[in-house]
Amino acid sequence: MYQVLYRKWRPRTFSDVCGQPYITKALQNEVRENQLAHAYLFIGSRGTGKTSCAKILAKAVNCLHPQDGDPCNECDCCRGIDDGSILDVVEIDAASNNGVDSIRDLREAVNFTPAVAKYRVYIIDEVHMLSDGAFNALLKTLEEPPPHVIFILATTEVHKLPATILSRCQRFDFSRIAPEDIAARLQTVANGEDFILDPPAATLLARLADGAMRDALSLTDQCLSRSRHITVDVVAEATGLAGREHLYFLSNAVHNAQVGAAFEEINRLYAASQDMGRLCSEWLEFYRELMLCKTVTAPERMIAATDEELQRLKKEAEQYDLPTILHAIDVLKATCASLALGGNKRMEAEMAALRIANPVLDDTPAAMLQRIAELESAVAQLFVEGVPTSKSTSGAAVETTAAAPAAKPDEPIADPSPAAEAPAPKKSADPSAPAATSAERPFTDWPEVLARLSSSCPPLYGVLEKTTAGITDTHIIIYTSNPLFQTLVQNGSNKSALTSAIAAVTGRQYRIGIRAEQTAESPEETDPLKSLLQKGIDGGVDVTFS
Ligand SMILES: Nc1ncnc2c1ncn2[C@@H]1O[C@H](COP(=O)(O)OP(=O)(O)O)[C@@H](O)[C@H]1O
Ligand SMILES: [Mg+2]
Ligand SMILES: [Zn+2]
Repeated sequence: MYQVLYRKWRPRTFSDVCGQPYITKALQNEVRENQLAHAYLFIGSRGTGKTSCAKILAKAVNCLHPQDGDPCNECDCCRGIDDGSILDVVEIDAASNNGVDSIRDLREAVNFTPAVAKYRVYIIDEVHMLSDGAFNALLKTLEEPPPHVIFILATTEVHKLPATILSRCQRFDFSRIAPEDIAARLQTVANGEDFILDPPAATLLARLADGAMRDALSLTDQCLSRSRHITVDVVAEATGLAGREHLYFLSNAVHNAQVGAAFEEINRLYAASQDMGRLCSEWLEFYRELMLCKTVTAPERMIAATDEELQRLKKEAEQYDLPTILHAIDVLKATCASLALGGNKRMEAEMAALRIANPVLDDTPAAMLQRIAELESAVAQLFVEGVPTSKSTSGAAVETTAAAPAAKPDEPIADPSPAAEAPAPKKSADPSAPAATSAERPFTDWPEVLARLSSSCPPLYGVLEKTTAGITDTHIIIYTSNPLFQTLVQNGSNKSALTSAIAAVTGRQYRIGIRAEQTAESPEETDPLKSLLQKGIDGGVDVTFS
């Protein structure tokens, strides 16, 4: 008969328990030194080894040939406890026996010395489920425990325990098991059970298990019913884990103001009977991972994704600033909370998409922060306007002329009439060049121009890939401070590729301007509000918001 992995692989010695080194060492020492407490309290989330350690401890204190604090698992006592023939070790599951009766029985029974073993050990699992009456009865016993009795209480919810119980126990907090410890244990199991587990698949299983070894082993069982060679794909199929493609898609859509596309995707997932609650919590987790990628140097320690996935996440994270991510996390947390209370799940998911896309609809601090960040970058944009693109870091840039109407915008490097003659030599200030005026607006078709360039002129596309552009009546203004662009566009065929791509998209001829863009490489100039203040102090600023 097949025995499920998590039962078969229950650790039988303290040394065999993974991921709880302080607890197992301490318990082992107490057994070895014979300095046992009368009552232990094991606290921690499910599947972290509480029951396992309780059983090991029960055997260790009674073992006839203990080995350095560990039970031998061979002697009559160890075996009798394992197979339940020795009645001195009693397991009570408070979740199913929450009546006062079993505890009352216990109160009488504790007074008798153990029949066979050295200690009578009571393991009370899920002790927080005991009724008030049962708690009181237990407390009486804990107050004056006979010397031959040991209590081991285990719970996932310590806050439900009365302080009177807490104060009488030696407390051990079991932590969630680290993903790498889980992955390593799964490999041990794979060796023992003779199946193949790809390391990335082990990592993925560990991530899904979220710190619970029991869950990791159950998931492994589920994979084994498909294949004895567990790959990432097998894990993804067996666990019903849809790829995360939809999460990337949704995030891109909401942050590029394509809420309609996001709604369509949500409806597609809904039609494919994806649970909307699960969608929202996965989406939330996705943003958490983006946040970690942005804030910690080694996010893999906290994310436990496959290498490939991690690289992709890091790249994705570059697209967003922190306030944007935090706002999304805020929205999705609220969504998950209200989903837990019931309500129309699809609508909640749609509302979440809408609110992430429009922080203006929100008055939460995270939304405000995001809007401030947007303002800051708009202000920063104002300051780089009218600044020559030449070699300047943006730090230098803000020191020069500001966006005064008469300011020289930058050197328009393209020919005024691109259709006409051969490339003209680089001109200096062109009077008809775009002044930094209100006429300039974002050129929303720029991605389309870039798309054309990607086939007609890959090198130019390469340097322009991540740029944005503005448009005036006469000019397309490209925001870039990459000096390579100027070099490349000097080349006549590159330039005509650019102008004809623009002509193809807009249906008319534009001249080309460039403007230095603040870059990520100038972190010392990342606070535009500070520079705004500085400029105010220095005088000579003429900012027109219009
Ligand atoms: N720390 C651990 N080391 C190794 N296996 C573990 C660990 N924690 C849990 N397991 C696995 O999960 C199963 C259930 O663990 P259990 O001790 O009952 O967890 P808990 O009582 O904390 O919910 C065990 O049989 C074992 O297979
Ligand atoms: Mg348990
Ligand atoms: Zn033994």
